[in-house]
Order: sequence, then C-alpha cells, then structure tokens
Amino acid sequence: MLEVLNHPMITHKLTLMRDKNCTTKDFRENLDEIAELMAYEVCRDLPVKPVDIETPMGPCTGYTLSKEVVIVPILRAGIGLLDGIRRLVPTAKVGFIGLYRDEETLEPHEYFAKFPKELADSIVMIVDPMLATGGSAVAAIDMIKKRGAKQIKLVCLVGVPEGVKAVQTAHPDVDIYLAAMDDHLNEIGYIVPGLGDAGDRIFGTK
Ligand code: PRP
Ligand code: URA
Repeated sequence: MLEVLNHPMITHKLTLMRDKNCTTKDFRENLDEIAELMAYEVCRDLPVKPVDIETPMGPCTGYTLSKEVVIVPILRAGIGLLDGIRRLVPTAKVGFIGLYRDEETLEPHEYFAKFPKELADSIVMIVDPMLATGGSAVAAIDMIKKRGAKQIKLVCLVGVPEGVKAVQTAHPDVDIYLAAMDDHLNEIGYIVPGLGDAGDRIFGTK
C-alpha cells in the first residue's frame, strides 16, 4: 500500500522547507508540524478494542488502542519526525536505527540499533524524511523484521518512484506513506526537486 498524503497544509509547509533559503529553525519547525499532520493519517487504521467505562451520565462502551505503537527514526534525519508523531501518540515507545549512506556507492551502513522489547505484537513506524534509492529504508525494515516485527509502516516526507519500488519489491507487506512523490533521482542519488540533504538541513551541519 502506498499513500501520498496530498493535503494543502502539508504541501504548504513542505514548499516552505524546499526553499533553499529556509533557515535551519524554520526547516525543523515545519518538519515537526508536518510529522504531526502525517501521523494523523498514518494512525487512521490503528486497531482498537472496546472498553466499558462510566461517564458522568452512565455506562458507555468506548474504544482504546489495542496495540503498542513503536516509532523508529532512522538517524540522523528521522529524528526530525519523532516529536511531531509523539505528540499524537504520546504512549509510543521509541527505537533507533543508525544508518548512513555511503556517498560513492549509495549503500547504507549500520552504526546503531536499539529497540524496545515488544516489537512482534506492535505497530512499528519507521520514519525518515527521504526515500531516495530506498536502500536505507529496505535495510531498516530488514533489521526490524529480524527482531520480530510484523506490522510495519514506513513514513517518509519525500519519495521518488525508484525508492518506492525498491521497498515494495523487498517488502511488499509494508505500508508506505509519503507527503510528496517527487520526480526522480539525480546522478549522485539526490531527490529532484527534493529539498537537499535532510540531515544537514535539520541539524545545520552544512
Ligand atoms: C539520508 C536520509 C535517508 C537516506 C535516504 O540519510 O535521511 O536515511 O539518506 O537515501 P536512500 O533512500 O538512497 O538510502 P543520510 O545517509 O544522508 O544520513 P543522515 O540522516 O545522517 O544525514
Ligand atoms: N538523502 C537526502 O538527505 N536527500 C536526498 O535527496 C537523498 C537522500
């Protein structure tokens, strides 16, 4: 399943971020706001269970989440989506995957992994602003599945058809959510028009 969340507020904020003159502060703030808006849609199919409660007016059957949610940002840039999603799902647990993309080969390299215990029965949201070749996302999903996760959602800001295809081929069971589907990858593996290097723009490292 691929869902591109075409919402005017998401598109508006993403356009502000794409502008090369957007400051580090504005880039980070808009990403944080988009993350919360995306989370609203990504959570639309979360399973619920009935619970019997008493309102001040009498008995009532309500519904609460029936599964744990685990958010897994891919370091570094995925950190930029974490707080926005956690505002919507404050009970979510958080795991981390450290991956960097070799600038020459574009292959992902793992340097960190730390997860909560209960992945097998949780809804796991892997989050990263950029889905370029898809190498990092495929590697992250491999890592999560090895630890038992079965219900996985991949949440990215900007993707390209090449990256979507790579994930769908390797992991057809994973739902993919994008704020925008861009045109193509350039010869050095950057998304066009994209927004440049997401990690550098979030953390001001260039
Ligand atoms: C970026 C981005 C993704 C990856 C996408 O991270 O945040 O993780 O590249 O590219 P891919 O789909 O071709 O794998 P990067 O490796 O630059 O690390 P950073 O977040 O530390 O900047
Ligand atoms: N990683 C980024 O940060 N930006 C791209 O355009 C591609 C990969």
